[in-house]
Amino acid sequence: MALVKISSILGLLVSGLAMTQRSLVAGSSSSCNFPAIYNFGDSNSDNTGRSAALTQIPPPYGKTNLGSPPKRFSNGHVILDFITEKLGLPYVSAYLDSIGTNFRRGANFATGGSSILPGPFSPFDLGIQVSQFKQFKSRTTELYNQGLSNCSSMSLPHPDDFSKALYTFDIGQNDLTFGFQNMTVDQIVAAIPGILNGFDAAIQQLYGEGARAFWIHNTGPIGCLPFMALPFKFRNGTLDQNGCYAYQNNVVQEFNQQLKERVDQLRNNLSIAAFTYIDVYSAKLLLISDAKNQGFVDPLNYCCGTFVPTFVMCGLPAQVNGTTIHGDACGDPQDRISWDGIHFTDAANSWIASRILTGSMSDPPAPISSACP
Ligand SMILES: *[C@@H]1O[C@H](CO)[C@@H](O)[C@H](O)[C@H]1NC(C)=O
Ligand SMILES: *[C@@H]1O[C@H](CO)[C@@H](O)[C@H](O)[C@H]1NC(C)=O
Ligand SMILES: *[C@@H]1O[C@H](CO)[C@@H](O)[C@H](O)[C@H]1NC(C)=O
Ligand SMILES: *[C@@H]1O[C@H](CO)[C@@H](O)[C@H](O)[C@H]1NC(C)=O
Ligand SMILES: *[C@@H]1O[C@H](CO)[C@@H](O)[C@H](O)[C@H]1NC(C)=O
Repeated sequence: MALVKISSILGLLVSGLAMTQRSLVAGSSSSCNFPAIYNFGDSNSDNTGRSAALTQIPPPYGKTNLGSPPKRFSNGHVILDFITEKLGLPYVSAYLDSIGTNFRRGANFATGGSSILPGPFSPFDLGIQVSQFKQFKSRTTELYNQGLSNCSSMSLPHPDDFSKALYTFDIGQNDLTFGFQNMTVDQIVAAIPGILNGFDAAIQQLYGEGARAFWIHNTGPIGCLPFMALPFKFRNGTLDQNGCYAYQNNVVQEFNQQLKERVDQLRNNLSIAAFTYIDVYSAKLLLISDAKNQGFVDPLNYCCGTFVPTFVMCGLPAQVNGTTIHGDACGDPQDRISWDGIHFTDAANSWIASRILTGSMSDPPAPISSACP
């Protein structure tokens, strides 16, 4: 039972900074005016996918700013929501939330628990998400050609928008999280090139479909998630100066280094496209290491549910020694970085998004509004 619940929170799980060189070079014409966003990812950017297709997310998830029913793995917004706000676009509609949904400004293929390669916590790995995108694009184009796209019940993008859209990615965290369950460091590190081959294949397919603007988040410091760090500490492990499980962060850094090299190659190989690599890892670590000055409490002090010594999922009851305990939330999540031990709060996501959007943590260091070729 505990295992089932742990996988459900991991499913929940699991799973971005820029003004600048390009806009200086390009002079004043720095705005891409993206007509749509297509997002691929895990719970870090899921904004309804998993709750539409797999499992309801219980309150108090989503209770801040979003009302109910809750659809995000946070108390409020995910980083993607802040990105779309910045670009003046509506929140990206989840592809899996198919009824009565407006897709004119894009689609979100992310689901909580997704990984690049097939994994145990979501059937919608990156390869499947790309297949869903291809189906979405081909059906949209067919309906347009049949003159049906103006049908009032359908809200689909203009086919020309696919090549002008922004393609965003936040995925890879779960590939590493699965590895941490039962693999040695050497085994996980040996698996990284294969994981990145899956990422590369996805990008190549999207490029083949006409995608030209790619915005790629690296993976955050998994070892700083309370869900990872606190059980390690409970087993008498020593956390680093930021309160993180250093071994896991070292693996993430290796993954990110190799991801960055792949993105550099993609930029060379597919030179008519624009690739922006965003160092979300550093943005999140900056917040965690400077929590107090940024107005937050101890980063290990998460808000909802519990998992040491017993797992009680945020929002759900659990039987503990014959007593029913409910996974309650703290009174005010505004000063917490972690919502449920795995996912970030609305306040933390807002902080991280604002750093991502200023341009200091991207390669090339361009703002998202000019991340097009
Ligand atoms: C859809 O409607 C718009 C505005 O009414 C019109 O300009 C356009 O030609 C129509 N497209 C098709 C495919 O009928
Ligand atoms: C880890 O566990 C998964 C699923 O339980 C299994 O498929 C995989 O082979 C295991 N890996 C190792 C190195 O034992
Ligand atoms: C942690 O260390 C204490 C003191 O040495 C010991 O009593 C306890 O059993 C240890 N806990 C675990 C989970 O190993
Ligand atoms: C880029 O092209 C080279 C030469 O064809 C190839 O070996 C490499 O795998 C490509 N890299 C990526 C990330 O596609
Ligand atoms: C449940 O009972 C066991 C055995 O008495 C104890 O070790 C454990 O800490 C208890 N769990 C909780 C959450 O109180």
